[in-house]
Amino acid sequence: MTPDAPNPLRTYSRTAKALHWLVALLIVAQLVIGWTMPHVRKGTLPIGEIGWHVIVGVLIILLVAVRIVVRIARPPTGGSAAAGLVDRLGQGVHALLYLLMVVVPILGWANANSRDWAVGLAPLFELPRIMPVGSKLGHDLGDIHSDLALVMAVIIGLHVLAGLYHHWIRRDDTLRRMM
Ligand code: HEM
Ligand code: HEM
Repeated sequence: MTPDAPNPLRTYSRTAKALHWLVALLIVAQLVIGWTMPHVRKGTLPIGEIGWHVIVGVLIILLVAVRIVVRIARPPTGGSAAAGLVDRLGQGVHALLYLLMVVVPILGWANANSRDWAVGLAPLFELPRIMPVGSKLGHDLGDIHSDLALVMAVIIGLHVLAGLYHHWIRRDDTLRRMM
């Protein structure tokens, strides 16, 4: 390769990599908390494990916002622009993961506000209230939040399998370039 030839390999900035793994860790923890915490009913307070679900959720909301800004400001360089079908599938899964990383937390936030729970890191700050207390819509969005969390877990599972497939079976650099 000549020195000024474009790098054909996709490369992620250190910030993009750090954010990928930090957000991945928080989302997996959040799924575990969501499925092991007590069932949320009318009048349930956000304490104990449920309180942790809100705190971890706020961290996810903030970090995903940073991640998207970083992605737009510094997209990965190189990579397969003229992608084949399988590459496009991978890109589609990534786009879907970004969508779910935005939508799932917002639905949880709306449901929490409809229960009159503050969504923030007390006593530092509270995020704006996006749903009136007692709202029927807020209640229904909580059900969609729970369903979409399951969809998200399945897609993350496929995404992880794809990463391991690249590393151990195709033996290419896909996983290494995210390290
Ligand atoms: C909550 C879990 C995760 C989420 C939401 C997530 C999301 C994403 C997204 C959106 C991208 C595309 C990045 C971009 O182009 O800007 C990506 C890339 C990547 N992820 Fe994950 N990820 C998760 C966990 C994991 C895990 C556990 C692995 C380990 C196998 C992994 C391996 C990779 C790799 C190798 C890439 C780079 C793919 C490429 O170069 O095209 N991810 N991930
Ligand atoms: C990616 C981020 C998130 C994931 C993966 C996630 C996952 C989950 C899961 C698995 C459940 C339990 C569903 C069930 O009972 O079957 C749940 C419930 C819940 N989550 Fe989240 N959550 C996230 C973010 C948030 C955020 C940011 C908030 C609010 C600040 C939140 C508030 C809630 C509430 C209030 C419930 C109870 C919903 C209901 O039963 O009506 N979640 N979440």
